[in-house]
Amino acid sequence: MTKTVSTTPYDDQKPGTSGLRKRVPVFAQPNYVENFVQSVFDCLSGIEGQTLIIGGDGRYYNAEAIQKAIRIAAANGFGRVIVGQGGLLSTPSVSNLIRTTGAFGGLVLSASHNPGGPDGDFGIKYNIGNGGPAPERLTDAIYARTQIIDSYRTIDSEDIDLGTQGVHRVGEMTVEVIDPVSAYADLMQELFDFDAIRALFASGFKVKFDAMHAVTGPYAKRILEEELGAPPGTVLNGVPSEDFGGHHPDPNPVHAAHLIEMAMAADGPELCAASDGDGDRNMIIGRGCPVSPSDSLAVITANAHLAPGYRDGIAGVARSMPTSGAADRVAEALGIDLYEVPTGWKFFCTLLDAGRVTICGEESAGTGSNHVREKDGLWAVLMWLNILAARHQSVAEILEDHWRRYGRNYYSRHDFEEVDKGAAEDMMQAMRDRFGELTGAEFDGRRIAQADDYAYRDPIDRSETSSQGIRLIFEDGARIIFRLSGTGTVGATVRLYVDRFEPADGDLSLETQAALSGLFALADEISGLKQRLGRSDPTVIT
Ligand code: G1P
Ligand code: ZN
Repeated sequence: MTKTVSTTPYDDQKPGTSGLRKRVPVFAQPNYVENFVQSVFDCLSGIEGQTLIIGGDGRYYNAEAIQKAIRIAAANGFGRVIVGQGGLLSTPSVSNLIRTTGAFGGLVLSASHNPGGPDGDFGIKYNIGNGGPAPERLTDAIYARTQIIDSYRTIDSEDIDLGTQGVHRVGEMTVEVIDPVSAYADLMQELFDFDAIRALFASGFKVKFDAMHAVTGPYAKRILEEELGAPPGTVLNGVPSEDFGGHHPDPNPVHAAHLIEMAMAADGPELCAASDGDGDRNMIIGRGCPVSPSDSLAVITANAHLAPGYRDGIAGVARSMPTSGAADRVAEALGIDLYEVPTGWKFFCTLLDAGRVTICGEESAGTGSNHVREKDGLWAVLMWLNILAARHQSVAEILEDHWRRYGRNYYSRHDFEEVDKGAAEDMMQAMRDRFGELTGAEFDGRRIAQADDYAYRDPIDRSETSSQGIRLIFEDGARIIFRLSGTGTVGATVRLYVDRFEPADGDLSLETQAALSGLFALADEISGLKQRLGRSDPTVIT
């Protein structure tokens, strides 16, 4: 029976960089999920009889939220819900299913790389019909709706059995519980040279892929081990767990330290890789050779034509503003357009839809292409495997070769997590107040050519976004960037990004932190970060 339930608004339902993200106890409050999902549906028109994709990364509260969302979808007139078996669907896989089934949109239940469990994080994100994250005007409307909501519609019905594939009815709506992997695996097979990768594995090429107890486990096992013939055991931590085995499913040097150690060993695997909670991020480390996401984007751009799906070349490449300029050099050499956009995958989607770009990447371990409208962790791993299979070189050789040809962008990000929000905002404001004085100022022989707060106008839909990060751009092209994270759930996180270019005939073999130490010291001198935030060292260095 469909029914209308009275509710009162929660004031904290503003979606951030990646949807609504809060601690589980917040989501578990009465009507919290219901309010948000109803607010999403209230902002969509024409959902009657349409298809909705629902899936998550398997974290604690995934199943509860899915059962609620199914009931609300049925009561709001959706005709069909497609949900992954076990409630599982990786983020890129939701994007793919939205596109291939002609769905109206999808709900991704995840808090990405944040920890899970009863005291961990949970999240809900709505993706639109192109498969990509909702644009800002929609997330703003959803938030506005959450602030005045007074009722939601739901239906009295039994929980769906998410554990087995099958078709069910909830009221007038059909619910299909499907294999979460097969459609995605088919797509990967179209894009990459599976025969060449199979031959690579058959030759004894060793790979370790760490699924970090999260959603990519079943995907990686099926694709790498079953279809491509990688030996069993190639996929580590391949069974999704509600609390990710007590770890953070974040493929960074802190939370994937064991993998880096394995990769740095002289007799380690040729390639170590990992993905995050919901499967959209990637980490790539060759033997003795970590690849920064900014470099990975550049290498992929330069070599994408080696994969069948990109054989005819690429239309253009886009990177987020804080991502290093490495891809810019490749774009220039290829004679294709390079776009710089604010942080967050949604900013790539208008360019992808318009056919302006084929490959996109963010410094935060996100790389992807026009095959879906999300970044895609396993896609990046398969792209690297395809390149390695085609070039018969090691990761280190490919990277050195790349730098020798295009020059090297030394790049690093320092994160200061869970700092005082007021202090972080004051620090940003103090710099904004000094833009005039900073522009043209000289520090240790380096002159700042431009000091500003990054603003962006989308070339396709003309929407405008401001305050996307404070930039200090030096005359030689080096950059210092400060941003406040939009995905944290506790206090504030300050991200400090530094980038400088070394030409192809310069010193390409410096240790990254050493190569950038002068710029990091300058960043502190200008911002007063350490003193203002009371932190002498970053929480994470990437
Ligand atoms: C972070 C990353 C950003 C990415 C987002 C979602 O956002 O920096 O590149 O798009 O996660 O995965 P932030 O916390 O910096 O706002
Ligand atoms: Zn993620």
